[in-house]
Amino acid sequence: MYSEKVMDHFTNPRNVGVMDDADGIGEEGNPVCGDAMKIFIKVKDDVITDIKFQTFGCASAIAVSSMVTEVAKGMTIDEAMKVTKQSLADALDGLPPQKMHCSNLGADALHKAIKDYRNKQGK
Ligand code: FES
Repeated sequence: MYSEKVMDHFTNPRNVGVMDDADGIGEEGNPVCGDAMKIFIKVKDDVITDIKFQTFGCASAIAVSSMVTEVAKGMTIDEAMKVTKQSLADALDGLPPQKMHCSNLGADALHKAIKDYRNKQGK
């Protein structure tokens, strides 16, 4: 069963949307289920000042996307690189075991957005 937090973030996801002037964009997909997630970040002085997501996926993937935006906003990019699928699942008070792979998408898309930002900065 899903935790109350998963249900809350699934039914009322935070930071949904597209960012036209993103500093970094990360895309991740799961070839097995076909779900896909895109994360947009805005960075100032190495801090993630804004973050948005677009996800086509299951309830867990949407809840994880919403949670990753809440967790990462205000973090430095170094801190955000340490966000893991487990820390996202923990922040949601757990995911059913068969849904743990869904949290990979959130962590991986966030890390790719940061790498994209660093590439664009030439770092
Ligand atoms: Fe595909 Fe959840 S079932 S990400």
